[in-house]
Amino acid sequence: MRIAILGQGAREHAIAWRLSQEKDQQGAPHEIFCLPGNDGMTYQHALACHPIAIDDSHALCQWIKTHAIDLVVIGPEAPLACGISDALRERGVSVFAPSQAAARLETSKIWMKQLCAQYNIPTARAHRCLSHKEACHALETMPSPWVIKADGLASGKGVFICHDKQEARHTLHRLMKERALGKAGQHVVIEEFLEGDEVSLFVMTDGQTIKPLGMCFDYKRREDGDKGPQTGGMGAFCSYTIDTQNQEIQTRAINDIITPTIRAMAQQGCPYSGVLYGGLIVHRETKACHVLEFNARFGDPECQVLMPRLQGQLAHAMHACAHHNLHHITEQDLSLDHSATVGVVLVDKDYPSPSPSSQRHPITMPSRASHEGVLFHANTRIEHETLVAGTGRVLTAVGHADTLEQAREKAYAIAKHIQWQQCSYRTDIAQQTRLNNKIDVTPSHAPTNVASTNVAPANVA
Ligand code: GLY
Repeated sequence: MRIAILGQGAREHAIAWRLSQEKDQQGAPHEIFCLPGNDGMTYQHALACHPIAIDDSHALCQWIKTHAIDLVVIGPEAPLACGISDALRERGVSVFAPSQAAARLETSKIWMKQLCAQYNIPTARAHRCLSHKEACHALETMPSPWVIKADGLASGKGVFICHDKQEARHTLHRLMKERALGKAGQHVVIEEFLEGDEVSLFVMTDGQTIKPLGMCFDYKRREDGDKGPQTGGMGAFCSYTIDTQNQEIQTRAINDIITPTIRAMAQQGCPYSGVLYGGLIVHRETKACHVLEFNARFGDPECQVLMPRLQGQLAHAMHACAHHNLHHITEQDLSLDHSATVGVVLVDKDYPSPSPSSQRHPITMPSRASHEGVLFHANTRIEHETLVAGTGRVLTAVGHADTLEQAREKAYAIAKHIQWQQCSYRTDIAQQTRLNNKIDVTPSHAPTNVASTNVAPANVA
């Protein structure tokens, strides 16, 4: 298959790397095209990158047609929000991604909350606020802490947990009056704060069949100990042991949240296909699950820890999703291995604030990365034949091993050998597991397979 992956971050690098390792039914490797990708993908894994503007639907569609692409995989949310998947589908291209209308689950928090309310999907109680006045009034009717969410896309930086009213008012003023996040913060949702463990649950769906891809845990705060500002994600982990120990929670989340949502989307006339990422909160005692957010894509950095554990034919499964044939994908076709992975995100030291300097610094790379795990690039470039670091999230170092503890050691072994002048990362990723699990130190040998669920919504053919 000739597969184009849209996007240029470490998430897209992980998807491209994973797909590049597969062979088609004739035993030939897939041909992978990263649009636009980044220099680091070529440097690290010899992936072919093409400098195409993926928000220019006309130019993109033309390129896809000219290059006879069999499948397009859309990584980030921005092309979904501007209708790239619809434009490609209208031209007969197979796309693994939801439509613009279905992606509203992520692109509008207000729309998502209304859907949950209409279909009794468990989520935090919330007020939708279309004006600053309405938002200030809503604060008075809710107990603290207040969770203020920008309605639109904000690269993971649109959620504010405010413990006092002064701080909440200031946040509302910054978002709704000063437009600190532009149009994304023009409207807001204010919701109650729910205590518990945060889990990222990933499923693949064609709108009817659902295949769970497993649970991951990410670290959104910038500093160790979950302190500092919110970021796009500073690290993640997942493990077979955690998946099996929490099978009941996953089943409950699929039954109570994911399945009703997929069914509701079809009933709303915008059937969902692609990967659905439920950002869930699990109550520590009752294990009740609520959805905090939906994302219409793989998480970043969750994708970087999921891809090394995926066994089977990902390309085949993605193609089946695009053609509403996911029920043909067997458990042998797609499963997670019995291992653990830990991803540590390396950033510039000013992140998530913009770096005051645009200077790019040369990166010293570890010579043994391949023995320890895998390195995914987000913001690196080749300048004068030297690999240099940009700003923001630059790399994800992933350790892959039998146990979470070993995977963590491997991820940090890679991270500590990477150096550039501005490099910084959290040192406590996967130090403590979530969902009341102990760190797994013994490998598990029981088989793991990804079971599928059929949504069978009444109005889906
Ligand atoms: N890891 C959070 C996100 O991808 O939105």
